Amino acid sequence: MSQKLKVMVLNGPNLQLLGQREPGIYGNETLADIEKRCRKVADTLQFDLDFYQSNHEGKLVDLIGSALNKYDGIVINPAAYTHTSVALRDAIAGAAVPTIEVHISNVHSREEFRHKSLTAPVCVGQICGIGTYGYELALLGLNEFINKK
Ligand code: DQA
Repeated sequence: MSQKLKVMVLNGPNLQLLGQREPGIYGNETLADIEKRCRKVADTLQFDLDFYQSNHEGKLVDLIGSALNKYDGIVINPAAYTHTSVALRDAIAGAAVPTIEVHISNVHSREEFRHKSLTAPVCVGQICGIGTYGYELALLGLNEFINKK
């Protein structure tokens, strides 16, 4: 019997406030709602799923750093660290675990400082602007990518 694939969904700073935070941009769903939807997709794909949120760059770096030989894929919404963190970029590149970056909002239609992602170039791809559904699509995309390897 083949083993279940193990995937980590990582959420960066301020995403614990989803549902209350700028609902005009990020919608009304909470992070718990997103986790529930991710778990549904993970069940369908037969993934084991770990779901984390941290406001601390070092904690996110630690989680990514421990991913090699532990996870088959990562979905990450690095939130504001997308635009600032060389440490997260290096962690993703170093972990060598296929990673898909997600943004709820369309970062390219917002302030100029959000147009640049330091992390996207070391990811398999980036999904943005389709709301929280992007997380589900990222899991489906990871499944496709991992199984094609
Ligand atoms: C975000 C976009 C980032 O620019 C912002 O800092 C966030 C959320 C998104 O999901 O749309 O915190 O990653």
